[in-house]
Amino acid sequence: MSKAVSGFSKLSKSEKIDWLSATFFKNSDKIKKVLQQYWNSNEVLQNLHDDFIENTISNFYMPFAIAPNFVINGKVYAIPMVIEESSVVAAASLVAKFWGTRGGFKANVISTTKIGQVHFMYKGDKHELQNYFSLKKEQLFKATEDITNNMRKRGGGILDIELRDKTGDLANYYQLHVTFETADSMGANFINSCLEAIANEFKRSDIQIVMSILSNYVPECLVHAEVSCKVEDLYAENSKILTEKFVQAIQIANAEPHRAVTHNKGIMNGVDAVVLATGNDFRAVEAGAHAYAAKTGTYKSLTNATIENGIFKFWIEMPLALGTVGGLTKLHPLSKLALELLGNPSAKELMEIIAVAGLAQNFAALRALTTTGIQKGHMKMHLTNIIKQLGASKDEKAFLIDYFEHKTVTHNAVVEAYQKLAKDK
Ligand code: MEV
Repeated sequence: MSKAVSGFSKLSKSEKIDWLSATFFKNSDKIKKVLQQYWNSNEVLQNLHDDFIENTISNFYMPFAIAPNFVINGKVYAIPMVIEESSVVAAASLVAKFWGTRGGFKANVISTTKIGQVHFMYKGDKHELQNYFSLKKEQLFKATEDITNNMRKRGGGILDIELRDKTGDLANYYQLHVTFETADSMGANFINSCLEAIANEFKRSDIQIVMSILSNYVPECLVHAEVSCKVEDLYAENSKILTEKFVQAIQIANAEPHRAVTHNKGIMNGVDAVVLATGNDFRAVEAGAHAYAAKTGTYKSLTNATIENGIFKFWIEMPLALGTVGGLTKLHPLSKLALELLGNPSAKELMEIIAVAGLAQNFAALRALTTTGIQKGHMKMHLTNIIKQLGASKDEKAFLIDYFEHKTVTHNAVVEAYQKLAKDK
């Protein structure tokens, strides 16, 4: 039977499921049940979700959790996080409490400029192109007036349009490099609409427009977050040595890209979880963050730390293009709730909160890695998951957790211990 299909998008949801389950699965009734099990009984809500994207057949649940007690610039937040990885939220909560008693997190937005480009090819005289651009520039702004009207009322708009000669990188390649302020919206649609209008106004028979699109590299949309305390306040014992190890862990990430990627992945555990919860675009944030980490030509850590005059300082600087209006932010009931939980922040405040979530995750990871290792915590979670799968009772669970306190957790070892426990009963 052919697994290709034409007109799939035109089928109804149940027709799509019928075709899928009959074509790709052995037990089609079971597949239908699994998919339907995740449908929302509230039809209006389900329709809302169906309409977010094409060809929706079900909903894919992710845990929506809260990491409370984050003190940021003196304000207390309960941070919403959407993530499937165990231990991320627990780590965030612990770190929030830890720094809450040491002055909390400080954060500030450094810049908020976003970028879009009209990429084009031109084989003629460079000076003539420059003249054409200079004469046209005013009209390029005018061509976007209808689109920028609302944004200007909110304090945003097009900041500048530059002609850039890129022929040194690629023959005949030029671009209109446009900078934007998008206030509280992420601004992707706004930027792309402006760029298309600019390209349309700029085009000429000898100018071949290749494409007009925003850039997810936003090194001028930057946020900084930090914590600091006396070295002796960082660890209960051996504080000086352990603090030095913590700083060395960052130095290693800065010297070794293999480590830096994992180091930054840990940061993104925190960042993405809040980006997702608040209905923002985590792929854009990921792409921009990693490009920024490689801005020197070598991939490095997004965080840094120093020990100076007995004070430990730990900070993050990263680009974050976010919105608190538009897109999914107010459309998805849970994103709306998440933003309300955060006090309906401006995009700038959300940048600060999310940078803090990233810094907190990195703090938790480095503290564990440079002391006990991360497996101890992870294996505890792993153990509880296995116990749950085995269907152990409350007493059996307590016994097994106690039994594995100082033993290595493997799936087999837990199953064996559980079977022995059942046999000995
Ligand atoms: C796991 O998701 C993240 C860590 O690997 C981050 C790190 O190594 O810094 C623990």
